Amino acid sequence: MSDIKIKITDREGVTHEIDAPTDMNMNLMEVVRSYELAPEGTIGICGGMAMCASCQCYVKSAHELPEKSDDEDAMLSEAFNVEDNSRLGCQIHMTQELDGLEVELAPEEV
Ligand code: FES
Repeated sequence: MSDIKIKITDREGVTHEIDAPTDMNMNLMEVVRSYELAPEGTIGICGGMAMCASCQCYVKSAHELPEKSDDEDAMLSEAFNVEDNSRLGCQIHMTQELDGLEVELAPEEV
């Protein structure tokens, strides 16, 4: 069993419960893209390098996520709409521990 269930609320406020593989080295931004939960070109702009914040999301569940890297911290300190529970989706890798994760996509930065 290598899929986990995660709930992603898109920018329209619609919540999607999806299966995310843990054996494909995917991060949350890539999962959102693969399910087309955000329009092409509005998420993952830097390709997952922690350099654009287009993949920002709010973590709603109480999961223990890996610590932010310095790059993620720096990017979030410059991004808009940042909350205490903000993370960069591209820095969150899909692992078994994240089964049941609930996140909401941050508004698009314009
Ligand atoms: S995709 Fe650019 S910071 Fe995550």
